[in-house]
Amino acid sequence: MKYYIVTYGCQMNVHESEKIAGILESLGYSPCEKREDADIIVFNTCAIREGAEDRVFGNVGNLKKLKKKNKNLIIAVCGCMTQKEQTAQKLLNTFPFVDIVLGTFNITKLGYFIEAVKKGRQIEVLDSGEIDEVLPYKRTSGDNAWVNIMQGCNNFCTYCIVPYVRGREESRKEENILKEVRQVIAEGKYKKITLLGQNVNSYGKDLSPQVSFSKLLSDICAVEGDFTLSFMTSHPKDLTDDVIDTIAKEDKIEKYIHLPAQSGNNRILRLMNRKYTREKYLEIIDKIRAKIPNCRITSDFIVGFPTETEEEFEDTLSLVEKVKYDSIFAFMYSKREGTVAEKMEGQIPEDVKRDRVNRLLALEKKLQKENKHD
Ligand code: 5AD
Ligand code: SF4
Repeated sequence: MKYYIVTYGCQMNVHESEKIAGILESLGYSPCEKREDADIIVFNTCAIREGAEDRVFGNVGNLKKLKKKNKNLIIAVCGCMTQKEQTAQKLLNTFPFVDIVLGTFNITKLGYFIEAVKKGRQIEVLDSGEIDEVLPYKRTSGDNAWVNIMQGCNNFCTYCIVPYVRGREESRKEENILKEVRQVIAEGKYKKITLLGQNVNSYGKDLSPQVSFSKLLSDICAVEGDFTLSFMTSHPKDLTDDVIDTIAKEDKIEKYIHLPAQSGNNRILRLMNRKYTREKYLEIIDKIRAKIPNCRITSDFIVGFPTETEEEFEDTLSLVEKVKYDSIFAFMYSKREGTVAEKMEGQIPEDVKRDRVNRLLALEKKLQKENKHD
């Protein structure tokens, strides 16, 4: 029995696919190189932008031929996209050959649904769920081991679907994280640990007693062994001085921070509900540069947020020039169902968004070239 997993989206999903692989292997499945050879194909989907969803619809559609050839093939779709009830329904209506549809909170029950599929199609999307501490991961990212430290997000940036499909923030207990880190290091295969969370800087605020993210970092560094530690993603509003100091102090922590700014304009940042200003963001960057020399800094930007004017977009360009990032990701704003920004007036036409993203990426390319010549 063979399995094939298709993963879309962020590192969180990559790591969750490692859990799916772990579950499938515990059921006796082994991996295969081509989807044609599989007895089960799992799509682990992403909902962050419309493009990601379109790709899933296209690729699931292409499986119709395989299902015709192999009637016993099981096709499962899970992840952020199917966590949205309407999208799950659309997928089921469009593709009668999809057997299992799960959301983000019940992937651990995949084994049960594979068994149940003999009786017919299985669909379950739950509103919430706890972090699984039991089922094994099949780690697939070379000498890097992902370690999840929390799930969900409480920030509700107005453009973002994540809080709706991943629920509220829930931190794993520190002792469970440390246990996993110790196990991973003891295996001897991993040189790097990367902590994952939508907003790692708010780690531990929901625990009692509370544990700060900087304490977690220091405690992981105290684990004996030869490894480097990194983490993503940080929110500028929560990146506190103690975290910056810990990164500076601990040799094991990689000198790298992904710090999404999203925009360089204060009115747009307010509309995005980011809870910091351009000035505050630049202050944090100055602090990082002062305390952690040679720290690599990267960022995400969204262009064409509703009502963004040409001048406001130029504030993003000037922020990028000023910070001199090591690299950036630039995205065209994509309307997400159910978010606050979806209902905002002044949606920006596609061609304007495309022009802005191209100009931002051209600037990034120019700055990278200049940096290399320094
Ligand atoms: N449209 C475009 N980009 C988005 N991101 C999140 N939501 C959207 C959206 N609706 C981007 C942000 C985030 C990154 C992971 O994806 O820049 O940091
Ligand atoms: Fe989305 Fe904002 Fe949460 Fe990041 S911090 S996952 S952008 S709501």
